[in-house]
Amino acid sequence: MIIALVNNKGGVAKTTTAVNLAAGLATRTRRVLLADLDSQGSASFSLGVARADLAPSSAEVLLDGVPIRSAIRPTSVEGLDLLTGSMALANADLALADVKGRERRLAEALAPVRNDYAFILLDCPPSLSMVPINALVAADAFLVPVTPQYLAVEGLVNLMEATELLRRGTGARASLLGLVLTQVDRRPKVTGEVIDLIRGHYGDRVFKTEIPINVRLSEAPSFGQTIFGHDPSSSGADAYRRLAAEVLQRCRQDGKK
Ligand SMILES: Nc1ncnc2c1ncn2[C@@H]1O[C@H](COP(=O)(O)OP(=O)(O)O)[C@@H](O)[C@H]1O
Ligand SMILES: [Mg+2]
Repeated sequence: MIIALVNNKGGVAKTTTAVNLAAGLATRTRRVLLADLDSQGSASFSLGVARADLAPSSAEVLLDGVPIRSAIRPTSVEGLDLLTGSMALANADLALADVKGRERRLAEALAPVRNDYAFILLDCPPSLSMVPINALVAADAFLVPVTPQYLAVEGLVNLMEATELLRRGTGARASLLGLVLTQVDRRPKVTGEVIDLIRGHYGDRVFKTEIPINVRLSEAPSFGQTIFGHDPSSSGADAYRRLAAEVLQRCRQDGKK
């Protein structure tokens, strides 16, 4: 199962969710690949990779035709492999501008390894340009992290419309696996109102698990650790553990449809 984490808004916890969901799923399935598709390389840094050590990355695989097996590396998390991101991804739109079948590059690159993994998670940059398009074409499903703030709701409607257009335009078959509420701070009254609005509109496509604001989650990357390595008893670890269980359950459910 290939899952793309997409939202054209930045700072909604795509990377935090990609890293910790990948680690949570690895505990249960032992075979997970996280592909960092962001030029910031945040997911790679979060797993302890040094800047000087990013290559060979997803950029070489996508843009230079480097075989994916030679670019995948193990991580300190058992059962979790990583394809790093790198600055060179920032050039993807230009580099692929004249390439035929440019939106299928990632799907083709992943093909040789897709059966090696129970899950492949794709951490996307905050845009809907060529890299996220490649992710949506390669993926079976997409997951949308969303922070319950008032303006995020408007953004969500636009995002859903845009992904639908992309699906039609590119023949991408990825369906919505679900929305994850992240960085949830239940103290202001407006949070509950916005969450009700989102749950009311997207119904059971919104995961029951809410990821709370938890300082442990924001610290973990600076130690190059997932939340389970950094503080397994934190509320953040507990939430991502529950999210992994819910994702597994939903994938089984959707598979039966
Ligand atoms: N639940 C959370 N609690 C506290 N901080 C969080 C939480 N989720 C994410 N963050 C922090 O918010 C910032 C943005 O998250 P990030 O995952 O990088 O978002 P994105 O990949 O969507 O841009 C990061 O500094 C991250 O550590
Ligand atoms: Mg990110």
